[in-house]
Amino acid sequence: MNEHPTIAQAPPVSPAPAASATTPTIRLDGIYKTYDLGEVQVQALRGVSLEIYPGEFVAIMGASGSGKSTLMNILGCLDKPTKGRYFLDGKDVSGFSKDELAKIRSQKIGFVFQQFNLLARTSALENVELPTIYAGVPIEERARRAQEALKRVGLSDRAGHFPSQLSGGQQQRVAIARALVNNPSLLLADEPTGNLDSRTSVEIMDILQQLNDQHGLTVVIVTHEPDIAQYAKRAVEFRDGKLKKDVVIHNRSIAAEVLPTLPALDDEDAIEGIGTESPAPPSNGKPAQK
Ligand SMILES: Nc1ncnc2c1ncn2[C@@H]1O[C@H](COP(=O)(O)OP(=O)(O)O)[C@@H](O)[C@H]1O
Ligand SMILES: [Mg+2]
Repeated sequence: MNEHPTIAQAPPVSPAPAASATTPTIRLDGIYKTYDLGEVQVQALRGVSLEIYPGEFVAIMGASGSGKSTLMNILGCLDKPTKGRYFLDGKDVSGFSKDELAKIRSQKIGFVFQQFNLLARTSALENVELPTIYAGVPIEERARRAQEALKRVGLSDRAGHFPSQLSGGQQQRVAIARALVNNPSLLLADEPTGNLDSRTSVEIMDILQQLNDQHGLTVVIVTHEPDIAQYAKRAVEFRDGKLKKDVVIHNRSIAAEVLPTLPALDDEDAIEGIGTESPAPPSNGKPAQK
């Protein structure tokens, strides 16, 4: 699968400086990944070729163990393929050293994890600031940039909170702000809603859709939930380390339209329990499930 001519490439709102609209943000060419465990070898990826263009929003699907996280780690320059080539913004990074990968990652990629991965004894603001330290942002600019990123996820008023003082949805928003703080052109999220209830999941998808639509950020998420994948523009499916399906999503869900139809249980209620002041959920609303 070296091509997907059915995918309509909308021009990116703000293309990455080095990339033209015809250069894929991601180009994988025959990627293999084998984990060598001594006695056994696990073939996690077996010849994956894939192109993702600026401004796309792709959902990666597939059963547990099909190679989704292995792929994301390679896309995110957290790991290297055993064989095959990875071109990031047109540049072949497959032969890069760990240091070179770390550098290009901090310049181009934001990564969001299922478990949020925030530092517990560190405020939201400081968590978001961390990648700016690695990227060499001047110290006087770090807090300003982190504040700006928190604002983009609607959490300006929680900058001083510790992760334990935030709901799961708020923690994931802090993690998204941390992923955005170095202005990446590519946002990768491995099961970002996997630990969240259904309403909060849609709130996270709303943020990702806004970043994609309004800021032209290329977004790739892993999810095993078809209704979450429905918020993307394109879905690819893995089976046993191979790409089995690649489709355009028709009748895409728009999170901003879905949210008003869901029970109005906000983050504060989620933490404090449903108080007497809580507005009644709409009569057609079902309680958040999962
Ligand atoms: N670090 C690792 N060492 C050895 N095997 C691994 C490692 N990570 C993943 N695997 C194996 O590779 C296969 C794909 O795993 P993974 O990419 O995590 O799948 P998914 O994210 O789709 O659940 C699985 O068989 C898994 O057990
Ligand atoms: Mg996984």
